[in-house]
Amino acid sequence: MTPAKIRARIAGTGLYVPPKVLKNKDLEQFMDTSDEWIRQRSGIEERHVIEPGVGTSDLAVESARQALAAANCTPESIDLIIVATLSPDHQFPGTSAIVQQKLGLETTPAMDLRCQCSGFIYSLNVAKLFIESGQYKRVLVIGAEAHSPLLDWTTRGRDVAVLFGDGAGSVVLEATEDNTGVGAVTLHAQGQFADRLWIEKPGTSKGVWMTDEDVQQGKLYPIMEGRYVFKHAVERLAQVVREVLEKEGRTIDSIDHFIFHQANIRINEKVAELLQIPAHKVHNNIQKYGNCSAASIPMLLDETIRQGKIARGQTMLMAAFGAGFTWAAAIVTY
Ligand code: UT7
Repeated sequence: MTPAKIRARIAGTGLYVPPKVLKNKDLEQFMDTSDEWIRQRSGIEERHVIEPGVGTSDLAVESARQALAAANCTPESIDLIIVATLSPDHQFPGTSAIVQQKLGLETTPAMDLRCQCSGFIYSLNVAKLFIESGQYKRVLVIGAEAHSPLLDWTTRGRDVAVLFGDGAGSVVLEATEDNTGVGAVTLHAQGQFADRLWIEKPGTSKGVWMTDEDVQQGKLYPIMEGRYVFKHAVERLAQVVREVLEKEGRTIDSIDHFIFHQANIRINEKVAELLQIPAHKVHNNIQKYGNCSAASIPMLLDETIRQGKIARGQTMLMAAFGAGFTWAAAIVTY
């Protein structure tokens, strides 16, 4: 008898955002912007931001504790921790090592994965392969971001700063022999467009970590060619959704829920329109949290599950696009 195939199922999810809320109107104090501009262009109404003394790992740990409780397991039962983030506590070591220590663990392996807004789906794929290979039984996957300390909160940085928020989402994946869990995944990257959305410095490029000139020129802040990124996001998301459906021999109709990255509600509406996805299947929470990069998808997943909208046995399609460029999609049965 051939042994049953092992799959990686979602045992529990968690979400954490810091308590402080910045509404669009509040931003008018620091920069030339308006609630109307932000809502119309992106759908965002408010975002949560950390206060002094808190970093990405703190958000990650809070969301991880919730996911562990939902999965009814202890930190000690985790075989591997993966943290997807573009806003790490430190340049090195990885935020995953800090999270491991804060969870009270001694030598559990921990790795960071840096694929920006696609980081959670890339991490899900890595976790899935570790579980399906039999190497690990339970993997904690976290997407966590504290963007607010790295944004330019002046009019110079308004096109980026108003879009991002702080938060974390976690998923405990565990081995199962039933037919649920992570199915087809597709991953892509295109470094040709690295400088269309990036933080240039500090970094080792050109042999210099950071100069006074870099600081003066604002190279420590993220820059984005918004329209260019928007256009690519819509095209690539529509493509990758079709691709992952094809990989599993499925159609849009057979998917119960679409959990898209939360960069701009207009991107998700355009993708839904192009693919003729019924609006009630597309979930969004960018209104409350802004773009939380690698954390957006696990945050939306947790919130949608806790609202009772996703039932066990239902199938969802996750898709993301972001800096790199990177883009990815996964089909997951809850
Ligand atoms: O998660 C990673 C992936 N990220 C994305 O997918 C984001 C993709 N891009 C976008 O979502 C949109 O391009 C934005 C929301 C960033 C911008 O929307 P847009 O409709 O493309 O606006 P724009 O960049 O073309 O700017 C229009 C105007 C400009 O003024 P002028 O040149 O027309 O006079 C900007 O200077 O809006 C101005 N502007 C602002 N005005 C008020 C830019 N930022 C702001 C602001 N408040 N915060």
